[in-house]
Amino acid sequence: MRPLPIGVFDSGVGGLTVLRALQAALPHESFLYLGDTARLPYGTKSADTISRYAHQATRALVERGIKLLVVACNTASAVACDDLRAHFPGIPVLGVVEPGARAAVRASKRGRIAVIGTEGTIKGGAYTRAIAREDGAAVVVGRACPLFVALAEEGWTDGPIPTAIAHAYLDDLVDDVDTLVLGCTHFPLLSSVIAAVAGSRVAIVDSADTTAAAALELLDRADLRASEVDTTPTRTRVPVRLLATDGPERFARVGSRFLGLTLHADAVEIVDL
Ligand code: DGL
Repeated sequence: MRPLPIGVFDSGVGGLTVLRALQAALPHESFLYLGDTARLPYGTKSADTISRYAHQATRALVERGIKLLVVACNTASAVACDDLRAHFPGIPVLGVVEPGARAAVRASKRGRIAVIGTEGTIKGGAYTRAIAREDGAAVVVGRACPLFVALAEEGWTDGPIPTAIAHAYLDDLVDDVDTLVLGCTHFPLLSSVIAAVAGSRVAIVDSADTTAAAALELLDRADLRASEVDTTPTRTRVPVRLLATDGPERFARVGSRFLGLTLHADAVEIVDL
């Protein structure tokens, strides 16, 4: 029997930055990725709506068969992870907020941490709570930076426009912090600009790699990891199946930049949630 894939979902293409880290950390696994492109962005929606969308996306993946769910969207992780665990008890659920918080506490020397993300992520305070669980003495400040999402999707990831926007968002925020968490799947694309504006004394933390490490640990603990012998030879293997709810061309075009690989529209299957 073919081993089950790892399900990964995001509001759109942003989660492909997490998928990229997962693929690097777990080269023998296959993945089923769902981008809810018809309803993105999640970051500006209410918690109830984000939660409902996250349930529908999870159900679509669970119905197709997955052994682990990675919620590769900070907004959905911040709002819906606990709920998803309660509603889908048979599937381990991993979000990006807890691993990001852990990485931030590890990186921070003085326990002064800034988190940037979408409005939905920052408003709910999930990062603040997750960081407090790791280090009760840490001081956390958050800021919504919604224009970074649009810049990343447009491919405006360097030059004067993103730099000016980064100054407007970050100058006062990073004044007294030593660590800045990129609490949105889109922000790693802007990491050079963000790092330059934040300055060299501020460590930049991206949750993709720590989420991948947490996925590996979780699979090992549950004895769910695919071994080399489980996987069919690379030339016949399809390591990622891509699903989206709208716009396969845009998904492939914009997603290629996020994944760092050329995607083709005809490889994106459109599904209805
Ligand atoms: N993927 C979302 C996140 O990480 C950003 C895009 C959106 O707002 O849907 O928060």
